[in-house]
Amino acid sequence: MQHRGAWKNRWTFMLATAGSAIGLGNIWKLPYMIGVNGGSAFVLVFIACIFFVGIPLMMTEIMLGRRAQKNPFNAMQQLALEANASTYWKYLGAAGMLAGVLILGFYSVIGGWVLSYIAVSTQGTFHNISATQSAQNFEALLNSPITLIFWHSLFMVMTMSVVARGVSAGLEKANNILIPALFAILLILLGYSMSVGDMHAAYQFMFTFDFTKITPVAVLSALGHAFFSLSLGMGAVMVYGSYLQRNVSIAKTTIYIAIADTMLGLLVGLAIYSLVFANHLAPNAGPGLIFQTLPIAFGHMPGGSFIAVLFFTLVAFAAWTSAISLVEPTIAWVVENTQVKRTHATLVLGIAIWLLGIAVSLSFSTWKTVTIIFGLGIFDTLDKLTSTIMLPLGGLMMAIFSGYVMKKNHLQDELNLKRKAYQIWTVTNNYVAPIAIFAVFIYLLGLVS
Ligand code: PHE
Repeated sequence: MQHRGAWKNRWTFMLATAGSAIGLGNIWKLPYMIGVNGGSAFVLVFIACIFFVGIPLMMTEIMLGRRAQKNPFNAMQQLALEANASTYWKYLGAAGMLAGVLILGFYSVIGGWVLSYIAVSTQGTFHNISATQSAQNFEALLNSPITLIFWHSLFMVMTMSVVARGVSAGLEKANNILIPALFAILLILLGYSMSVGDMHAAYQFMFTFDFTKITPVAVLSALGHAFFSLSLGMGAVMVYGSYLQRNVSIAKTTIYIAIADTMLGLLVGLAIYSLVFANHLAPNAGPGLIFQTLPIAFGHMPGGSFIAVLFFTLVAFAAWTSAISLVEPTIAWVVENTQVKRTHATLVLGIAIWLLGIAVSLSFSTWKTVTIIFGLGIFDTLDKLTSTIMLPLGGLMMAIFSGYVMKKNHLQDELNLKRKAYQIWTVTNNYVAPIAIFAVFIYLLGLVS
């Protein structure tokens, strides 16, 4: 076995895990999901999912990794042995690796969109741009596979070059500045949106909770997005937890990260929707939403080009630190189980994901009509399959494993919680989260059949 990395201290673990959680999920995906799923109903269910499912399961996943101090595959195997259970549990680790690879296949393409927007911003293209022009620019990008593939390739190179070096030696320091900087620039954006946009309409759209508007599909998407946003259910936080020392409080770290992650997404949402309503744009524009709306804001604010470059650069960094965590479980598995060098493993995996990303890039134009399952195109298939099925299923299995397979004293030992907190975790981990995920799956089965 080759050497395993370790975080220097609690702070670096926290930043790395926050770096994994905070990414395109908050800035690109949450805002458009809110619009596609009818606004406030989705927001309410999303917040509930974060608190009742996301937080307890994030604790669980970090706990599993830290107890085993191994990659997800070996970790599940070892923990199963320790609990005298079947070692088939190791395939839960394997399923997570696959999910990470599939996610990066499209994540990297969207990361590429962000990189291309950095380039475009530097040219002052957004100056005084109209809503129509902005939408046209985005359409033009989607219809240019070569451009998409170019930026996707760059994003893959960036990601894999950090992974090749080892995560704990790679980006630790960068996170230190990036996350606070991202929050700061968001506040600028929010301030601007407040002054020129329709913040009142945005607030109403997102936060006037109307229980009658909650639809089963919104619940399904909100649950899936809670997993996606917190990087849960596929071993990313498990592998990060495995590099963590024993003396850190898992509960506190988790709660901070979950709150920062959720707040950030909702703030971006407010900034965007106040622009959407002020410019009479459609809230349900889908994946292009931020790329169509934000240039309008940047194009009209003083110093807009500069702020745009800064904003998209920070988003690219946020996406970068998340992308790394998508492949780390697989790379850790190769490194810990074979003689293959980290760099070689990274290269091979990187090429495979790069090819997948090319298919995704083409799915916006040339291959638009290609469908994989249930009439969904390549991008939609990867997105829906991972967010609404693989991640929640992975989370469900981790909840069952920790709640019903592991020994109680091992759990208590590892989580190290006060009595009350431990009870809350037990109830949410053993009952609330699994039942919620299960109910959603039953509904999904009904939809399919
Ligand atoms: N949480 C990341 C984001 O919001 C995406 C991600 C999902 C990363 C799953 C790792 C695992 O952008």
